Amino acid sequence: MARLVVVSNRVPAPNGAAQAGGLAVVLEALVGERGGLWFGWSGSVAADAASRPVSVSSSGAVIHARLDLTPAEHEGYYNGFANGVLWPLFHTMPELMAYERHDAVTYREVNGRFADGLMPLLRADDMLWIHDYHLMALPAQLRTRGVGNLIGFFLHIPFPAAEVMALAPAAARLIKDLLAADLIGFQTAHDMNNFAAAAERLAGAVPLPGDALALRGRVIRLGVFPAEIDPAKFAAIAAASADAPPAHRLLASLGEQKLMLGVDRLDPTKGLLQRLHGVRRLFEQHPEWLRQTTLLQIAALSRQDVTTYRDLKAAVDRVAGSLNADLGDADWQPLRLLAKAGKREVIAGYMRLARIGLVTPLRDGMNLVAKEYVAAQDPENPGVLVLSRFAGAAEQLDAALLVNPHDPDEIAEALHRGLAMGLEERRARWQAMWQALAPTSSIGWGHAFLAALGRCTEAHRPLRAASVGLPLRVRSAAPLPALLGATAPRLDAKHPIHHH
Ligand code: G6P
Repeated sequence: MARLVVVSNRVPAPNGAAQAGGLAVVLEALVGERGGLWFGWSGSVAADAASRPVSVSSSGAVIHARLDLTPAEHEGYYNGFANGVLWPLFHTMPELMAYERHDAVTYREVNGRFADGLMPLLRADDMLWIHDYHLMALPAQLRTRGVGNLIGFFLHIPFPAAEVMALAPAAARLIKDLLAADLIGFQTAHDMNNFAAAAERLAGAVPLPGDALALRGRVIRLGVFPAEIDPAKFAAIAAASADAPPAHRLLASLGEQKLMLGVDRLDPTKGLLQRLHGVRRLFEQHPEWLRQTTLLQIAALSRQDVTTYRDLKAAVDRVAGSLNADLGDADWQPLRLLAKAGKREVIAGYMRLARIGLVTPLRDGMNLVAKEYVAAQDPENPGVLVLSRFAGAAEQLDAALLVNPHDPDEIAEALHRGLAMGLEERRARWQAMWQALAPTSSIGWGHAFLAALGRCTEAHRPLRAASVGLPLRVRSAAPLPALLGATAPRLDAKHPIHHH
């Protein structure tokens, strides 16, 4: 089995208290299974970062290699381009994009620094798996440095329609850079199709039958790999935590009230303001719920160096304040708002107590909170998931009450319906969702991606028209010989070593 090299923006500290569950634990397990390394940013920002060596530490079969960023890199790459441009754009919120041409340059340079740091650590038979929108330029940066290894890329967030993608600075170049990978994975078929259309229109890629593209003589496979949780494990955690002191205290504070629960990062994509408006409408249109239910909204602070996130914090606090001031009473408030993240186990317990799980992002790659809420329920007396149609999870969890997260009336109606819903319907809906989740696992998601990447060896070779069966309708303007160029050179033992 080839060694696995995972590259992501964030890498947990070696031997650090890995947060139970979540993506980090899965990636760690995958690297552990085959041996290999995990490369990325340490989370540190320092003026002399560019001259610091990559810090490498190993435990067992897993090597963690982490680099620091300079303040300018952190600002242009992470705050500026990744979170100020790509994040809002990919969530189809172009009006929130902070367009700075120079940030696209810094982004590419930092991706180049990731490549430089990685080169000396790579072996000829390594399989690389790059994660998320921070590192879309990395496949090309590696190829330029002579890396011929299999490269997979997974986008954890949505991919927008081509006309939205076209708004990004250097959009075509970014797509071409990503197309230097062998396999590009997405959360949903919708995202994959959007990407294929953008690659064709903006980068001149040629669609091939069977979810593949051709560009400059190479075949790039596309695939759908919905991210998963470990439903049975999460269910056990939730059941145990529902019977622990934090959950007991919450229950005691609620009295007879039904709990509505939201768990998000404080992020413009999560639809928090619209959600609070929906809750206000619920109480205005159905005053019978006053004093009978309350929303506990966890809105963990996130990316506070980015202006839109700071603005959102102020706006959410304002709207939350007026909700409580206008509708609350001396001994009752419609909303409890928390800006801190909370322990995963404790939240699992809260989820089990909640009659409503409110997950209404304006757009979301997958949203694992929705899956966790379903897994956390008591099968005998499950709560109701109110879920945005525009979360990737809605494809699998279509037995939830699906809403348009922009529409406060629709949110209010779904809340009313969920609060009033009888046991039989709650069980039937929950059963349907549990059946969708029960066969899945987080490691299964990783295995599915890596198996598909392994199957790309054929595609990795130069494109031969006969073997891949070019479609009759070749839509690229490029003449056929241009499609049949040479493949990237393979990495050999004498590849140049870069130190920064
Ligand atoms: C999303 C992204 C991840 C990112 C996470 C937290 O889930 O897909 O790549 O790590 O948000 O955001 P942060 O900026 O704190 O890493």
